[in-house]
Amino acid sequence: MHIVVTGGAGFIGANFVHHVVREHPGTEVTVLDALTYAGDRRSLDPVADQITFVTGDIADTATVDRLVAAADAVVHFAAESHNDNSLADPWPFVQTNVVGTYTLLEAVRRHGTRLHHVSTDEVYGDLELDDPAKFTPTTPYNPSSPYSSTKASSDMLVRAWVRSFGVAATISNCSNNYGPYQHVEKFIPRQVTNVIDGVRPKLYGTGHNVRDWIHVDDHNAAVWEILTRGQIGETYLIGADGEVDNKTVVQTLLELMGQSPDAYDLVCDRPGHDLRYAIDATRLRDELGWAPRFTSFRDGLAATVDWYRANEAWWRPQKDATEARYATLGR
Ligand code: NAD
Ligand code: TYD
Repeated sequence: MHIVVTGGAGFIGANFVHHVVREHPGTEVTVLDALTYAGDRRSLDPVADQITFVTGDIADTATVDRLVAAADAVVHFAAESHNDNSLADPWPFVQTNVVGTYTLLEAVRRHGTRLHHVSTDEVYGDLELDDPAKFTPTTPYNPSSPYSSTKASSDMLVRAWVRSFGVAATISNCSNNYGPYQHVEKFIPRQVTNVIDGVRPKLYGTGHNVRDWIHVDDHNAAVWEILTRGQIGETYLIGADGEVDNKTVVQTLLELMGQSPDAYDLVCDRPGHDLRYAIDATRLRDELGWAPRFTSFRDGLAATVDWYRANEAWWRPQKDATEARYATLGR
């Protein structure tokens, strides 16, 4: 099988490429990535001689058409992915997440190529802290931010192209990922690298917001199962029953890094900040037999801390500019 991986120089996409090269060695991999501020070719260094890398935009019809024509399947990770950035400047989110996904859909329609569209649980909006409910494939869409609304839009386009044009696509909506190669703008890497720099972690608002954490390798194993064995037209929710509030995440990191558990600061909240996400992954587990391998969040966090400690050369070039952006937001 020859797959095109869009966004393969980003956090989850790069880990997916490593996973495929390691676990499914007969697969030919072409990465299409625009190398925005969030993409880093060095994340693919360990597999560089086993893949083809193309620098290009998913909204560029000619490039996309050429690559899709030569592939059996497209695994679509490329996106603008950070909520805080989407509040500061929504336009790149509309352009990449909506127009870019449209461009891919038209190409897979022309060439009859299989598509797996990677999305987020944030399309469902948020849940109350004391609500026993979790998101399921029938939960109504109710996105809160420019990021989540453009991801919801892209999901809707995929659904429409399946129904109207018979495109062979699947969709997955996953909860918050953690692990190696995640940009230092995101919650966990930001706090780990702050502590390494002697800066106190920064919690938005009260720190009571809950995210449903999953290790990136567990997400990517599920994506491979859906790509190869999922039912065309279906939506699969991916989550590992990893609900933890932000304050507990920070306190666990502080403890793992030898600091006092109250050595953090509360900073001003994100506007429209979603309270809680939680995934019901029953379909994925029952239909495809998937189960997470990282069952201890604490152990997964400890391994992630070790990775950032050992790979300062990877994240250091991004750190100052990222913190300068946060400083303008008072966060
Ligand atoms: P990321 O920001 O780390 O990586 C995005 C990658 O896409 C980068 O390499 C960037 O250069 C590339 N890109 C951006 N615009 C592009 C364009 N126009 N053309 C080509 N490439 C472009 O994001 P991530 O965290 O790895 O997320 C990957 C996907 O997974 C996204 O679709 C995101 O919505 C989804 N997702 C992320 C999470 C999470 O916790 N990070 C959870 C669920 C779903
Ligand atoms: P983030 O990694 O931005 O992911 P998402 O917005 O997609 O959930 O943030 C995860 C949670 O951590 C979210 O509730 C916002 C919070 N947060 C902080 O408390 N401090 C921070 O410095 C950052 C970046 C996020």
